[in-house]
Amino acid sequence: MSITEAFGEFRTGKTQLAHTLCVTVQLPPEMGGGNGKAAFIDTEGTFRPERIRAIAARFGIDPDTTLDNITVARAHNSEHQLDLLNELCIRLCEDKQYRLVVVDSIMALFRVDYSGRGELSERQQRLGQMLSKLVRISEEFNIAIYITNQMTADPGATLSFAADTKKPIGGHVLAHASATRLYLKKGRGETRVCKIWDSPDVPEAECTYQITTGGIND
Ligand code: GTP
Ligand code: MG
Repeated sequence: MSITEAFGEFRTGKTQLAHTLCVTVQLPPEMGGGNGKAAFIDTEGTFRPERIRAIAARFGIDPDTTLDNITVARAHNSEHQLDLLNELCIRLCEDKQYRLVVVDSIMALFRVDYSGRGELSERQQRLGQMLSKLVRISEEFNIAIYITNQMTADPGATLSFAADTKKPIGGHVLAHASATRLYLKKGRGETRVCKIWDSPDVPEAECTYQITTGGIND
């Protein structure tokens, strides 16, 4: 019933986590799942059915059924992204089995459509409308929302979290809408690190994970 945002640099596994969640949401509650369907709004063209198949195999569930339970829509611009959410609302009213909605990524198309400095306030206004729709979906339909986000550029960043001056983009509007914010970072070798950046019910903590063929593994 709230939004979880994962932000971080490229290749930190935001999209892989999205794929993994689309599978694990389908697992029975005794396996930590939600016994439900997933909707995936893809703004960057990175949804891959073959990744879903591989992750389903890891959890021992049928790849075809798993794919059938994921509704994917490709958004081509920020207005289309909002239109797709409106369409999704109709579907969620008709089919109460959905437990997860993914938007990967939330800001990419807004960044393209409102690239000028003078357009920032208009961008934030439209972004706010989209996020309140997402919050409403999460509460009305008892659904988990997972969104991915990019970061501001910072040439001086180092390996330490404390020394980072980089931030997720989207400003206060996004910070306000995301209940839980996760910061994903590259770690040593092939490992990645996830830090709880902000949460209403979990203390600050971090853990390491790996991106594998079977999805995110910790
Ligand atoms: P951006 O969207 O570009 O910001 O990145 P992201 O954070 O979404 O990264 P993504 O989730 O796409 O992760 C990409 C990483 O996953 C790359 O390092 C790939 O090598 C790795 N990856 C993708 N598929 C597989 C796979 O099947 N097996 C393994 N082991 N790694 C994979
Ligand atoms: Mg991605």
